[in-house]
Amino acid sequence: MIQLHDLTFTPFISEEKITRSIEKISRKINEDFSGEKPVFLVVLNGAFMVATEIIKRFDGECEVTFVKLGSYEGTATKGTVDTLIGLSHSLQGRQVVVIEDIVDTGNTLAALDRILKRHQVAGYKIATLFFKPAAYQQAYPIDYVGMEIPNDFIVGFGLDYDGLGRNLTQVYKLKEETMTNLVLFGPPGAGKGTQASVLKEKYELIHISTGDVFRYNIKNETDLGRHAKSFMDKGQLVPDDVTIKMLEAEVDKNTDAKGFIFDGFPRTVAQAEALSDLLAKKNTEVSAMIALEVDDEVLVKRLLERGKTSNRADDADEDVIRHRIKVYYEETAIVKQYYLKQDKYYGVDGVGSVEDITERISKVVDSLQKKN
Ligand code: IMP
Ligand code: MG
Repeated sequence: MIQLHDLTFTPFISEEKITRSIEKISRKINEDFSGEKPVFLVVLNGAFMVATEIIKRFDGECEVTFVKLGSYEGTATKGTVDTLIGLSHSLQGRQVVVIEDIVDTGNTLAALDRILKRHQVAGYKIATLFFKPAAYQQAYPIDYVGMEIPNDFIVGFGLDYDGLGRNLTQVYKLKEETMTNLVLFGPPGAGKGTQASVLKEKYELIHISTGDVFRYNIKNETDLGRHAKSFMDKGQLVPDDVTIKMLEAEVDKNTDAKGFIFDGFPRTVAQAEALSDLLAKKNTEVSAMIALEVDDEVLVKRLLERGKTSNRADDADEDVIRHRIKVYYEETAIVKQYYLKQDKYYGVDGVGSVEDITERISKVVDSLQKKN
């Protein structure tokens, strides 16, 4: 994986495959232009690298000239083509071989066709290393195609993303955002733990509970664990940047994950922003905050019931229970607002059987996955 500006790219076409495509193009050009003296017209910038490879392999006499056209901004076409550097060479009456790195919508070809006709060339052929048939909107036949590729954004071998990536010797494609990252909330007694373990299995997500991560790092005496403990020993809260580093280490351990369930985090806007930055570095984001909604009185009843068998002191006392619920709402209110503003908050009715509640959450998760 490589990172260019804000985006992540994964290996897509190897150097050997590119070389074979170029050899295929070159063989045909050599056949078609044997005994002739074509002018290779290189369309800058992207085509510089494939052009040297094709021209090196040309057996006869030839000339080379350049035109610089631009139609892309970032990872999308603008729909218009600008002539950034025009033709200096006279092409009147000549046989021209246009060399392109990639033909996408074909807008550039339409502009070239106008330019070449104005210059009254005898004829021209088009060579391109890559061709995206699904994006092509023109009728010009493309004479020499190195390789057809799907409608993905690629970089490398001359092709760039906002100026970067041209020097890469193989081709990479934009990594698609397919992760499902859930921030799971629920008041004490809402059944959050139960749902997390069901969802984790069902959607093959990694469940990251901040509490577990803390305990793991402290138990295994990692550097981060020791650092966190030094605050806890003094009775202080572990600073956000330490917590975030631990979470990042967990995320990094699972680079192939289909997504994460964050449990117990974020609890403040600063933490929500830190989580967003962390995920952005991995070219992903929080997909949704899912909050189980259960009426206070139901929670109190459930917890008192659980207290009878769980031996948890904090489940036995109604006042303690009510206080925990209150703290939960005070904490989540801020985080809820944060995700509401981004249209990512989903309240889910948390009363009913485990299966019913899973069903409701699944509806949300499935709708998120359809968006991808
Ligand atoms: P067209 O005019 O839409 O056919 O696009 C041609 C130009 O768009 C190319 O010469 C590239 O500069 C740029 N382009 C199209 N697709 C890609 C891509 O996947 N990566 C990088 N640049 C691209
Ligand atoms: Mg180009």
